[in-house]
Amino acid sequence: MNALPTSLIIFGATGDLMGKKIVPSLWHLYKKGTLPLGWNVIGISRRDLSDDAFRALIKEFLDGYVSEKREKEDEEKFLEMFSFARVAFESDRDFEVLAALLDEREEKNGPANRLIYMAVPPEVFPAVFAHRGFGTIVKHGEDQGGHTHVIIEKPFGTDRKSAEELEEVLARRFVESQLYRADHYLAKQVLRAIPHFRFGSETPILEHLWNKDHISKIHIRTWETLGLESRGAFYDPLGTLRDVGQNHLLEMMALVTMEKPHSRDPGAGREARAEMISKLRPMTEQNIREATVRAQYDGYTEIQGVAAATKTETYYALKAFLDTPRWEGVPIIMEAGKRMAEWRTEIIITLKDPAGEVIIRMRPQEEMLVTLGEETKTIPLPPAESTAQYVAEYARILMDAALGDPLLFIDTKEIDAAWAFVDPIVAGWKNDLVPLQTYEPGTNEAAVDAMKKLSAM
Ligand code: BG6
Repeated sequence: MNALPTSLIIFGATGDLMGKKIVPSLWHLYKKGTLPLGWNVIGISRRDLSDDAFRALIKEFLDGYVSEKREKEDEEKFLEMFSFARVAFESDRDFEVLAALLDEREEKNGPANRLIYMAVPPEVFPAVFAHRGFGTIVKHGEDQGGHTHVIIEKPFGTDRKSAEELEEVLARRFVESQLYRADHYLAKQVLRAIPHFRFGSETPILEHLWNKDHISKIHIRTWETLGLESRGAFYDPLGTLRDVGQNHLLEMMALVTMEKPHSRDPGAGREARAEMISKLRPMTEQNIREATVRAQYDGYTEIQGVAAATKTETYYALKAFLDTPRWEGVPIIMEAGKRMAEWRTEIIITLKDPAGEVIIRMRPQEEMLVTLGEETKTIPLPPAESTAQYVAEYARILMDAALGDPLLFIDTKEIDAAWAFVDPIVAGWKNDLVPLQTYEPGTNEAAVDAMKKLSAM
């Protein structure tokens, strides 16, 4: 681990991701006093902004997305960390100016690591990474006075093939230890607690019960009340299965079912997750017909950016199986939906012997419970870092990527295995193997119907 000061270089620094996620998380780290000394943030965009205008925008983001009261003096000090550089991706000159700015600053303030955050759509990555000028801002280790890490976010492709192409683009510019592919679910506190809960020394009995002999079902659910009103154009080509099912739900599945990583090395944790995703039984056409459901809420097609005759799902459910000795025959239900009646994200593990449930819940509140008969035991979790949406997760993503801890980031094997499972389902739906149901927004109708179908098979 290298605790040098860090220049955080954000491509797409005037966009949504910056406002909603990065700035509130940086503020949180700053207030908590955990932002290492010497952090500075360089916002990049093709817009022409002065440092002052950029800081004014950051202040707007704070006003819009940070609800806690801020002292003026604190805020001013925070804003001083930010500066701006205009970079049009096709311009050699702009990259030269950026490289000179970084070098000059590091000459003056001493060596720094660089953390590049790609808060721009993935379609832009190939052009940016291939640019000669981009190469000049990437440092490769100690002889250059620090390292450069890069954070990219899902979607990692839209199918197996495009994910592979993205990996080729990344591999041309970076080595694996520089790459931090974020899935913010892995950074959620309750999910981070799962390996401790399962493999920690306080609950040794549990791991003994964690198998097909004692568990009859695993149910993973992400219900959201929000719809796609402001994200139609982004969402319509994807749908719920690819937006959250290919990544967040499969990662949750991996965390609850994986074998104990063979060492404490972060690579071993990633390997254990990937292994489980790759053990999902591939779905045949018949499985797709019988064990998957897709539905769309009424009114979805009227959203701006959504194709008129679209068959994109806003809810999906499926029943999967893992081909491993531990989980043979145990159904794993995964479902996710928009405009549901409640905001509920949880994993429910049904115990058959002794009868009960293990509940790992993120919403409506973070908790871990074990019920056995009449008795409910709460598994203690560390105090929540922040209850504001995304703040704790993105604070963790930023710090771990800066320090070089890859455990909570996904690797290529996880991505590949996830697409290998999802691609045939997407294709099957395209071929109408499964009818598209509709549901009244603000209800759980879709889920009720889906569970009827999946439990009947
Ligand atoms: C994102 C999806 O990855 O996760 C969104 O693109 C979804 O559509 C979000 O709303 C859910 O995240 P969380 O942390 O609010 O459950």
